[in-house]
Amino acid sequence: MAIVLIGFMGAGKSTISRLLAKNLAQPFIDLDDELEKTLAGSIPDFFAEHGEAAFRKLETATLKQALQAEQIIATGGGIVTSQENRQLLKKEHVIYLKTQPEKLVARIREDQKTIRPLAETKTDHELLALFLARQAWYEEVASIMIETDQRTPAEIAQKIQEEVSRWK
Ligand code: S3P
Repeated sequence: MAIVLIGFMGAGKSTISRLLAKNLAQPFIDLDDELEKTLAGSIPDFFAEHGEAAFRKLETATLKQALQAEQIIATGGGIVTSQENRQLLKKEHVIYLKTQPEKLVARIREDQKTIRPLAETKTDHELLALFLARQAWYEEVASIMIETDQRTPAEIAQKIQEEVSRWK
């Protein structure tokens, strides 16, 4: 089974997955990076040209491909919006990184490196609403939930490792 990290934009999925993969000496894949390789371009450009629905189709195809291997997978925050994805994820070990929504919005706004098309076009209030609309889906597919607010990335990875050791 794969270990899949889910959560809203800015939850730290990529950072924690990378750390976890290093600690567990397991392969790691970031779906957004994979998508950009497939597109040979950036996610914001793809959104601008083809729209969200086309992005979601590619995202599902990339997820399916990634699930072929037993590896640690960092997902994009919108992975749970598709019912097909949710069904796929329910068969895996899924870790939901739960973070206070206000903190997520602040991190998204501060992040100079990652341009997130869905965040660019939204006010803070609309972003919070998007989080609330997805929250139940994150919880629905999660095998475990880790509260990230009071923890460093190293502590979060450690906590996940404790859980993972119970699965084996
Ligand atoms: C999205 C989140 C992004 C990326 C795309 C759409 C979303 O990934 O997949 O911009 O719908 O929440 P991160 O969660 O890694 O920012």
